[in-house]
Amino acid sequence: MYTIALYNNKGGVGKSTLTLAMADFLATLQVSGRPLRLLVIDMDGQGSISTALLGESRVQQARESGCTIGHLALQLANGQQPALQPLLQIRSGSRGGQPPLPSLTVLPSDRESMLDFDANPLRPLTLLAQRLKPMLAEQFDMVLLDLPGSLDERHLLAVNALVMSEALLIPVELTRLAIQALPETVRMIRYAQEKNDLALPNPLGFVLNRADRRSRQFRLHLPQLQQLSQQCGIAIFDNLLPHAADLANASDDTLTFSSLKDRYGTYYPHVRKMVKELFDRWQQLAPSA
Ligand SMILES: Nc1ncnc2c1ncn2[C@@H]1O[C@H](COP(=O)(O)OP(=O)(O)O)[C@@H](O)[C@H]1O
Ligand SMILES: [Mg+2]
Repeated sequence: MYTIALYNNKGGVGKSTLTLAMADFLATLQVSGRPLRLLVIDMDGQGSISTALLGESRVQQARESGCTIGHLALQLANGQQPALQPLLQIRSGSRGGQPPLPSLTVLPSDRESMLDFDANPLRPLTLLAQRLKPMLAEQFDMVLLDLPGSLDERHLLAVNALVMSEALLIPVELTRLAIQALPETVRMIRYAQEKNDLALPNPLGFVLNRADRRSRQFRLHLPQLQQLSQQCGIAIFDNLLPHAADLANASDDTLTFSSLKDRYGTYYPHVRKMVKELFDRWQQLAPSA
């Protein structure tokens, strides 16, 4: 099983959007002659990705009945052996007369307050890596974790999520504020890596979102990102994700939209290329995985 976290400590840089587009693409892939078994876990109390995939009322229902990553983590922390299957929510792919989308399996997030785990027993920080991952590995080939921004050491669930990932994708925009926020992002990643004594290969990458090579901002800030990339050993993906005007205007739409694929034509093909690049790198690093 391959676990990929999407993380940047800054909000609004495109983590959830990229998770959604990657999920739609990944779920169409085949491994060993069958569809790739993919799980999306929403680690963000704002619930953007759960809501985009399931709709508001299903997310609310799931939260009320304890079908969330936070509840599951607490049960694991308390030494229980919860069954995974009843917690998982399915985004069905059928859409009336339109071509069906791949169906997706989702584990929703808790509300923000539930995720504030300052005083709860979610320790050690390897809890999810040690207890949840083996459970997931029985059913899934790949897990995408959509993380929140504004993390620090007190957010034990989200740090657990960083610790359990083998790969990190860091969506980043080439703006002054976004670049300034990166050292803190890198610091949290290093913190999580120190907690992870499982010594997994850790392909990392910055993914440039809303990127336009011709823009002044791009030329101004790319050298800064390149310098940081060299200093911290985190590569920059070759494939850029362009600004997509229709995507930018879609925020009010998120309650009902079920896929980016047909609506956001300029963005999606770039995501596909980027995911392929990620796969190739992963294969090079861990050919047997
Ligand atoms: N490449 C893009 N082009 C245009 N708008 C984008 C792009 N990527 C993300 N957005 C928009 O930016 C907003 C924030 O994106 P989101 O994925 O929610 O960020 P995050 O999860 O990092 O907080 C959303 O309204 C989303 O539709
Ligand atoms: Mg988000």
